[in-house]
Amino acid sequence: MPADTEPPARDVDLTPRPVEASQVTLSRIMTQLDANALGNVHGGVIMREVDTTAGMAAARHAGGRICVTAAIDELSFREPVHVGDLLLVSASVHDVGRTSLEVGVKVEAEPWRGGRRRHTTSAYLVMVCLDEDGGPAPVPPLVVTSEDDRRRQAQARIRREVRRERIDRIGAWEPELPEPGTP
Ligand SMILES: CC(C)(COP(=O)(O)OP(=O)(O)OC[C@H]1O[C@@H](n2cnc3c(N)ncnc32)[C@H](O)[C@@H]1OP(=O)(O)O)[C@@H](O)C(=O)NCCC(=O)NCCS
Repeated sequence: MPADTEPPARDVDLTPRPVEASQVTLSRIMTQLDANALGNVHGGVIMREVDTTAGMAAARHAGGRICVTAAIDELSFREPVHVGDLLLVSASVHDVGRTSLEVGVKVEAEPWRGGRRRHTTSAYLVMVCLDEDGGPAPVPPLVVTSEDDRRRQAQARIRREVRRERIDRIGAWEPELPEPGTP
């Protein structure tokens, strides 16, 4: 481990934290290495950036503890991203449970030389904070002050209810695929 790398936090202060304290934006130029067969940026590359940024926001809220992705609740690709675009990925904690957090992620892209910035991707991820033994660990409450933050929190709570209702109605998400070779 490099000398300047802090180990994951062991004792976390559970004092409530404001939304702004954990917001994070990552940016990266998209290159040919990120392209799919059509020449646009591969969706999986964008998903990786979404997941990474959501994990950073969650870990910041959780006082430096590791947070893993439990579920991606929704991920919409609104517009393609092109090679040569600057990708800006912003993540913000929308709501917290006991050990889980919902993080909203907005992806924007603009030509690296400058030009119109497009909102290309949106996602909501459920992250779970882990203790040193790898089990779920409590997270600090979220302090929500602005109208926009309150609206986002209310929407996150609806998604949590809908997840529960979905599990009640159709069971946990376990895809039942046909055997390979079955017509
Ligand atoms: C996420 C994980 C730690 C949850 O463990 P678990 O033993 O099921 O934990 P619990 O049942 O106690 O649930 C813990 C919290 O996670 C939430 N949760 C667990 N699975 C979830 C799912 N599929 N979707 C949404 N929330 C989920 C629970 O609602 C609970 O939230 P709360 O404490 O805020 O009420 C475990 O399933 C895991 O390690 N998964 C693999 C994670 C991973 O490898 N991700 C990819 C790389 S980061």
